[in-house]
Amino acid sequence: MKKLIYGIEFEPVWGMSGLLNFYGEGWPYHKILKIFGINFKSITFVSKTTTLLPNKGNMPLKKNLMPVELIPKSIYLNFFRKYALNAVSLSGPGAEEILSSKKLHQRTKPFQLSFMSVAPLGEERLKEFAQFIKILLREYHNYKTQIGLQLNVTCPNTEHDNPEMKEILTMLDMCDPLVGKGIAIILKISVEMPIANVLTFGEHRNCHAICTSNTVNFGNLPEKINWKKLFPNGSPLLKRNLNIKKPGGLSGAPLLPLVVEQIKLLREAGFKKHINGGGGIIYKKDINKLMEAGADSISIGSVVFLNPLAVPGIIKYAHKLF
Ligand SMILES: Cc1cc2nc3c(=O)[nH]c(=O)nc-3n(C[C@H](O)[C@H](O)[C@H](O)COP(=O)(O)O)c2cc1C
Repeated sequence: MKKLIYGIEFEPVWGMSGLLNFYGEGWPYHKILKIFGINFKSITFVSKTTTLLPNKGNMPLKKNLMPVELIPKSIYLNFFRKYALNAVSLSGPGAEEILSSKKLHQRTKPFQLSFMSVAPLGEERLKEFAQFIKILLREYHNYKTQIGLQLNVTCPNTEHDNPEMKEILTMLDMCDPLVGKGIAIILKISVEMPIANVLTFGEHRNCHAICTSNTVNFGNLPEKINWKKLFPNGSPLLKRNLNIKKPGGLSGAPLLPLVVEQIKLLREAGFKKHINGGGGIIYKKDINKLMEAGADSISIGSVVFLNPLAVPGIIKYAHKLF
């Protein structure tokens, strides 16, 4: 049975923000995936997170928004144990270029944009969001399909990855004109976010769904993540001359049990909105765990480079299950 979010029919599988680049074109290595018959036609596209202004981040981009480096230095992956660490830090050309792109305007299947404010002060971040809303309202009539907006409030590679509840609630308040146009609002949270906070966001009139989880800040949740075992010598990204202030965010297999637990707790506590669950989906069987916990749909992310051959099966199975 299709589950609508604010009247919009998204697929039961979404591509985690960052998976398919800004316009759905993917990354250079996706050409190899194509040879093996791996494609993303039946998943909901979520655009890579844009900031309001152009943002250098740690993954230099060409004019066509493809990475300059063949293997970006800001991404570490452990292929054998199925996890990754990244400090990409939202490299991108800014909202004007992304939102006014014909590549997005011409998409015909519902998809989602993703935005994050990155100014150092709360007040400035809200101003950035107001400006983003203005651009989106200006461009909205050019879009050929219904869209959702993921509010990314949890990217570990920014200085304010855990903004105060008040700030997030204000952002949701500010979404009234977007919601008035029929845009679905989806909060991209992380397993680091306290359950009580997520419940409060879920009660907001403009929070139509949550997507969990973003990456986990290196070293956080030590009671649940054995960092010493994953990275005996500390963050490999800190040793790569990247000039980064933070050691990166964790993706992949270690996230799955945490996401399952979070969804279970949210449902037990009465969370009623749509939950899109992912983070650490590596095998087909992982989807059962998320569904049993109470997820309505799933997102796939780093599995695409950690276990690519499993991707078609995961997508097919999710379509069958949800
Ligand atoms: C290289 C890379 C880039 C990412 N970029 C974004 C992004 O732009 N916006 C976002 O919300 N999450 C971003 N993420 C986080 C993913 O969307 C996802 O939440 C996280 O990787 C956990 O899912 P996974 O374990 O299935 O990969 C990125 C992750 C990676 C590995």
